[in-house]
Amino acid sequence: MTKTPDSVSSKPQIITGKARLAGVLGWPVSHSRSPALHNYWLRRYGIDGAYVPLPVKPEQFEAAVRGLQAAGFRGANVTIPHKEAACALADELDPSAQRAGAVNTLVFEEDGRIRGLSTDGEGFVASMDASGISLPASGRALLLGAGGAARSVAAALQDRGLHIAVTNRTQARADSLAAVLPGLEVVPWETWEAGLGGYDLLVNTTSLGMEGGPDPMFRPSLKAASHKLVVADIVYVPRLTPLLAEAEQHGLKTLGGLGMLLHQARLGFREWFGQDPVVDAKTEATVTASL
Ligand code: ATR
Repeated sequence: MTKTPDSVSSKPQIITGKARLAGVLGWPVSHSRSPALHNYWLRRYGIDGAYVPLPVKPEQFEAAVRGLQAAGFRGANVTIPHKEAACALADELDPSAQRAGAVNTLVFEEDGRIRGLSTDGEGFVASMDASGISLPASGRALLLGAGGAARSVAAALQDRGLHIAVTNRTQARADSLAAVLPGLEVVPWETWEAGLGGYDLLVNTTSLGMEGGPDPMFRPSLKAASHKLVVADIVYVPRLTPLLAEAEQHGLKTLGGLGMLLHQARLGFREWFGQDPVVDAKTEATVTASL
């Protein structure tokens, strides 16, 4: 069983000259709670290490990754807008990243090779399970967005046997996602709200509704939803996004993005810091306190 010491909040972080280092690459990155989460786990397990935010512009992504490697980092998480660039940069992709066409976790191997993983989808499904949400075996899910997170979530939900439809402002991007994941349906961005009645699950995988994002007020109409629709958002700042607030107003079951953040992070932590971390109420409370 994993050892999970209790009195961790008072434990100081250990950062010696041998500290293991990792971080999160994003633009912007100030919203990310990954540093709060990973540094909490580092304290909890008494690991000599640190995890830092790394604000990097798209045009500097590759230079930044090479620099981190040169500086002895173990790897990094990758968030908006770098997930597809990270996929192209990795020397080796694990099966989830191959399938998702995106990478959210980079592992720098000692021989200089870069391994890419995609843990968003697995994290999303683990979060759904942890919240006790169960969907019909051959249920239908509609994903908003066609970026890296969408690809990863779509692949993981397909593995669960769900039929997936995707809608995106830029339809060409949704079409290319459908080309990678056979069986995926593309729905026009202009009409998805009206067609919501046919779905069991709606997932926002875009940054719409995110504080500081392109449209923090994003509150689509859920008038056409059936009463069984589960509404999920991968945005977790704010915890109650306008989309989730709208769903609650309709009496629909909701799933916020925090659970996915916590669960997707476990794999990277294990790779960089050599410990499988627990996701429990204390973990959630620590990250929530930073929101
Ligand atoms: P990630 O890899 O984390 O999914 P991404 O690849 O940058 O990040 O994707 C962001 C998603 O948010 C995309 O689906 C994007 O739509 P476009 O492909 O049309 O750009 C979506 N998005 C971002 N800003 C948006 C906006 N103002 N309106 C609609 N969709 C938006």
